[in-house]
Amino acid sequence: MKIDSDFSTEKQCIVIDIGTKYTKFGFATEHSPRCIIQTQSEIDGMIVTDFYNCIDQQKLTLALTKFIHRLFYKHALIAPKEKKVIIVESLLSPTKFKETLAKILFINYEIASLCFVPSHCVALFTLGISTALVLDIGYKETILIPVCEGVPVLKLWQAMPLAGESVEKQIKNQINVNELTAEKSTNDIIEDIKVRSCFVTKLNRSKNLVEGKDVNPLTTDASYHINGEISITIPGRVRETAYDILFEENIDEMSITTMILETIKNSNVDMRLKLAENIFLIGGTTIAKGFKARLKEELQEKVNSSKYQNLKISKFKFHIAPVYENYVAWLGGSIFGSTNNLNILSQTRENFLKENFIPDWPTTHTRPKVEQ
Ligand SMILES: Nc1ncnc2c1ncn2[C@@H]1O[C@H](COP(=O)(O)OP(=O)(O)OP(=O)(O)O)[C@@H](O)[C@H]1O
Ligand SMILES: [Mg+2]
Repeated sequence: MKIDSDFSTEKQCIVIDIGTKYTKFGFATEHSPRCIIQTQSEIDGMIVTDFYNCIDQQKLTLALTKFIHRLFYKHALIAPKEKKVIIVESLLSPTKFKETLAKILFINYEIASLCFVPSHCVALFTLGISTALVLDIGYKETILIPVCEGVPVLKLWQAMPLAGESVEKQIKNQINVNELTAEKSTNDIIEDIKVRSCFVTKLNRSKNLVEGKDVNPLTTDASYHINGEISITIPGRVRETAYDILFEENIDEMSITTMILETIKNSNVDMRLKLAENIFLIGGTTIAKGFKARLKEELQEKVNSSKYQNLKISKFKFHIAPVYENYVAWLGGSIFGSTNNLNILSQTRENFLKENFIPDWPTTHTRPKVEQ
């Protein structure tokens, strides 16, 4: 279904969500991305993946330029020139990344206008609500930001390096696939094993497994085939416990569960219940089977501990995303692109060349100024 808009195909606005692992690309007003590709570039035969943490400025510019070229000309089959572009970004993404991307898009690819929108805020457009505790669990890290009346509460943000990558590391440590890398890379195989054969187990079973007790019924081993020839066995225990890392507390007693509880605890008393009853989980890792049920169990158990008893919260409620969680933020960007706010908050090429500056998303209640 396509939402009616006054954009002609020529002027249609492009929405890009550059995740640390996957980039989602599509057109504003559409309900799903046209393509989702791995975020990576090749420089002199070397694969560059982590754009956000690339310290070498020259390398970042080259990797991003090549990536944008591949994205537009190989996958999307559209020229970026004179297009309006929306970039869905994490509020925590480094300024250097943002500035480099803006320069490349405006100068090398001559786009007409650019707008950066924060993923946690625009994700809420997909639900039509403006207050929620938004938790993005993608590949590299989990980022939690409460959003109140559409405004991100930045003093309460929290992040931890726990997400898809941590689960894959667990699997990698327990299964030897190094010698099987025929066509696919080891990392791709591990990810495939994770998505196809692993799941998030119930809290009780996880406790029993940690203590070495018997669980009933036992999870069966799975056979994973590569190119229809090589087969590896994924032990039931690995299938069932790989995701447990997301719920284990680190030395500071922090985990995904305690992140949520700490944020609720640190927020205004009158906001606590509202946040607990409006939790919105986004990001690909939350699609894993059993993830939401387990997180609910963990929260319910932990909130009754002495540390959080005073919160007096008896129920946690999760919103159901209208599409797969890995592209909810993208969809939010697409909805934003169909509103008049796009023109108000975008920077045009003309202005960028004059000012060399990209405005930030408003993080207060002041409305963006409309030029008379
Ligand atoms: N059906 C699924 N089951 C389990 N995991 C999944 C599923 N689909 C995607 N994932 C995992 O979600 C992760 C990617 O999610 P997402 O696209 O939200 O991340 P990203 O935006 O690239 O990363 P980040 O938000 O951390 O920058 C990968 O680790 C992928 O394996
Ligand atoms: Mg993401």
